[in-house]
Amino acid sequence: MTDVLLAHGGVGSDQTLNSFLDDVVKSSLDRDPLKSVVNSVVRMEDDPRFNAGTGSYMRLDGSIQMDASVMIPGSFGAVIAIEKVRNPVLVAVDVMNRSPHVILSGDGATRFARTLGHAEYNPETEKARIALQQTMAKLKDSSNKEDRILNFRDRLTIESFLTVDTVGAVARISGKFAGAVSTGGANPMLRGRVGDVSIPGAGIYVGSEGAVVATGIGEDIIRNSLCFRTYKRISDSSLVDVLREEISHFNSPVGLIAVNGKESAWFANRQMSVGYYAGEHVN
Ligand code: GLY
Repeated sequence: MTDVLLAHGGVGSDQTLNSFLDDVVKSSLDRDPLKSVVNSVVRMEDDPRFNAGTGSYMRLDGSIQMDASVMIPGSFGAVIAIEKVRNPVLVAVDVMNRSPHVILSGDGATRFARTLGHAEYNPETEKARIALQQTMAKLKDSSNKEDRILNFRDRLTIESFLTVDTVGAVARISGKFAGAVSTGGANPMLRGRVGDVSIPGAGIYVGSEGAVVATGIGEDIIRNSLCFRTYKRISDSSLVDVLREEISHFNSPVGLIAVNGKESAWFANRQMSVGYYAGEHVN
C-alpha cells in the first residue's frame, strides 16, 4: 500500500508555498504516521509565514494563545489557549502520551508544558503586531475599549477575518493513520476564544478508516462537526467529491485534507497551500 503524507498551510495561504510544503512533507516522513504529521506541523510552527507557533496571531488584548491537537485511531491529545511555548503540537503529543487527560487548557496547559521541559518561548512576530494594529483600526470607531471588544462581531463580517491560516497534516503510513493540527486562531478574536483545532470531530478526526483535518473559521467548523461528518463518509468514492460536497455547505473560508485506505485528497473554497508525498513504503 502506498504511503501518503499530506500537509496544508491554511485556507487563504499562498500557493507559492506549495514547493516549500512538498519539501516539508518529504523531510518529515517517518515509519510512524504520528511522527510524520507532528514533524510536518513542527516545521510549519517554526516558520513565521504560518499562523501557528511562531507567527501566531494576537488576541484583541495583545496576547498569543495557541491551540493544537494530535489524533490516531483511539487516542487524542490537545492543548487549548496555551501560551509561551515554541511548539504547541509537541505539548499536545505529551498530553496524549504522558498525561491521564485528553485536553489541557490555558494556564494548566502552559504549566504542564513547563513541567515536561518545554522551555518558555515568545512566539510574537512583527507580522502579528501589524495584523493586530489593522484589526484595531477597523474597530476604532467605538467609544471605549470594552465596547470595541464586545461588539466586534456585529461590525465585522466573516470576510473581514484577516486570516485563519491553521496548519495541519494527515498521514497513511504502512496502512496506519494519524493527523495533527496547530493554530494561532482566527483574527480578530477575544482572549479565551476556542476554535475548532482542539475539538475532536470539528478540526480533526482520525479513525481506523482514515484521517481528516480542517482549516477555516473555527466557529463554523465546530457548528458543523466538519471532520467527523467528513470521516463518516471517508470510504465513499471519490474522496475529493466527499470533501467538495462537505465544503459546499460553507460560505466562510474552509479547507480539508484527508486520507483513507486507498485515496488522499484536498479541497478548499479559497486558495490553500499544500505539500504532498506519496510513495511505496517509508524506510
Ligand atoms: N481554524 C482555526 C481557528 O478558527 O481557530
